Amino acid sequence: MNIARTKNLPIGIFDSGVGGLTVLKALREALPNEDLIYLGDTARLPYGTKSPASIARYACRAAGHLQEQGIKLLVVACNTASAVALDALREQMHPLPVIGVVEPGAMAAVKARPRGSHLVLATEATVRLGAYRHAIEALDEEASVTELACELLVSLAEEGWLDGDIGVDILRRYLDGLDDDRRQPDCVILGCTHFPLLRDTIAAVIDDATVIVDSASTTAVVAAAALSDLGLLNTQTEPGALTLLATDGATRFARVGGQFLGEDLSPDDIRIVDL
Ligand code: DGL
Repeated sequence: MNIARTKNLPIGIFDSGVGGLTVLKALREALPNEDLIYLGDTARLPYGTKSPASIARYACRAAGHLQEQGIKLLVVACNTASAVALDALREQMHPLPVIGVVEPGAMAAVKARPRGSHLVLATEATVRLGAYRHAIEALDEEASVTELACELLVSLAEEGWLDGDIGVDILRRYLDGLDDDRRQPDCVILGCTHFPLLRDTIAAVIDDATVIVDSASTTAVVAAAALSDLGLLNTQTEPGALTLLATDGATRFARVGGQFLGEDLSPDDIRIVDL
């Protein structure tokens, strides 16, 4: 590997849609001089209700596309793809480093509430695999973990309905399926990249003493440490460039993605690619 040339390559980031922009935002804050290339697989969203075989196939295709563009690190900014396909992605991308969001999310939770009771809100696929349970229990044997699939919250965030009673009602309905003692944990983990946008809705339903964590900032810290260890931090002094790719719907991507990124996007900012 030519380190000097590799340093200047962008970090590749992908998600099933626009939710991973919450991770991209954290990466930009932690690594402002890095060029970033983001791919939202909007044509295949949601991943969370699909079979593991389909999710792995979609994730490997998206990652392969970024690899063809030339990247130095892959961040899997999708909990579902991280839960299902991280090993397959690492094998496919080797020797390129690959970072998922589940382990950083688990690290953030255990740091916030050691030996705590955790409630993970995530997609069906992430919950089915017990991805967060395994990651948290590996870090903290005394932690207790409850995982709850909340698919409708993905649609709510995609629609941009971020406040009002509707989100509160939907979340209460999901929580009704849990035993009383599991509804008020020490820590709620936003185990889906869409859910940081619904933080206020989630805070309105849970106890004030419950801490809410997501994986975005911890993932950015892990990515920065990986690049530093490999001697691959970009040394340019200008702000990094941002390239946005999607597999469908530039107008919708711009409208909803702008909310996730916290800045205005135009459809012209997004290049549609076919995988
Ligand atoms: N990005 C996915 C995740 O973080 C949620 C959306 C989907 O189901 O594709 O799990």
